Amino acid sequence: MIETIQEHIAEVEKFTATSIDAVEAFRIKYLGKKGILNDFFAEFKNVPNEEKKAFGQAVNELKNSATEKVNALKDALESKDEEKGRFGDLTRPATPLELGSRHPISIVRNQIIDIFSRIGFNVSEGPEIEDDWHNFTALNLPEYHPARDMQDTFFVQTDPDILLRTHTSSVQVRYMENNQPPIRTISPGRVYRNEAISARSHCFFHQVEGLYIDKGVSFADLKQTLQYFTTEMFGKSRIRLRPSYFPFTEPSAEVDVYWGLETETDYKMTKGTGWLEIMGCGMVDPNVLENCGIDSKTYSGFAFGMGIDRIALLLHQISDIRMLSENDLRFLEQFKSAL
Ligand code: DAH
Repeated sequence: MIETIQEHIAEVEKFTATSIDAVEAFRIKYLGKKGILNDFFAEFKNVPNEEKKAFGQAVNELKNSATEKVNALKDALESKDEEKGRFGDLTRPATPLELGSRHPISIVRNQIIDIFSRIGFNVSEGPEIEDDWHNFTALNLPEYHPARDMQDTFFVQTDPDILLRTHTSSVQVRYMENNQPPIRTISPGRVYRNEAISARSHCFFHQVEGLYIDKGVSFADLKQTLQYFTTEMFGKSRIRLRPSYFPFTEPSAEVDVYWGLETETDYKMTKGTGWLEIMGCGMVDPNVLENCGIDSKTYSGFAFGMGIDRIALLLHQISDIRMLSENDLRFLEQFKSAL
């Protein structure tokens, strides 16, 4: 009898399985209610007294090794299954990715691009390091114009002809030099001015330039376009154009949008008037068209330029322009946007 038990122990030790089902069948065979072990336990009463001790020890040994075997095989197979699940099941939900957020300047720039692209404007770009011609001369800025003052413009090295562009109007010039009308383009980009850095101004910021040149373009087209823009951008359609002066447009105007005076912030932002200045604009001066190789007798057009940073500060209620370039993650992480 004891020999039979020893044989079983040897068999148990040798046993291996590749599936949970096989382990379960093994468990039932040895440890189940009608299993081999129970047969031995039932046999116990028939064993002669002097053999009882050895018999009992052998049966216990068989029970322990069968139980250990079952547990070990189950553990091994379950962890294998888990691994298969983790790496092999492509329908499992992925570990969530930490998504970045867009910079408020990019959010606003993309909104502006989106709005103008819906009415047929394309996007053009130009270099940030410019020459005098594209930044000033072609735009009708005479040599004595205050914008050329060394205090406003960063010159590159000692060459007075090479500078960091002070506005995106330089891209107008480049675009007209390289394309004949009809022209409908907006040019977003970074510009530089030698100004003291404070909560309200920085030595670099961002603008979007707009240019529309075709036959018979009038001031009414300009106004309509701007009204479309302010409605889409701010949800406000009431605008006013104040006569102004820019060397590259004639006539020129500054555009205010009626923001309202509902909250204290409105009051502060608009200095109590309800009106907010958002851009400069005008009909492109015929001289500028000619400077850029476009026949001013056949074509006319309008241009406008606005600051992106200012709009971003406004829309997101940011109180200090320096935050836009400090790269503080606590600030940047607040801007999650689909655009
Ligand atoms: N370049 C001007 C600036 O930086 C903005 C501007 C005004 C652009 C009138 C224009 C315009 O195209 O027509 O302040």
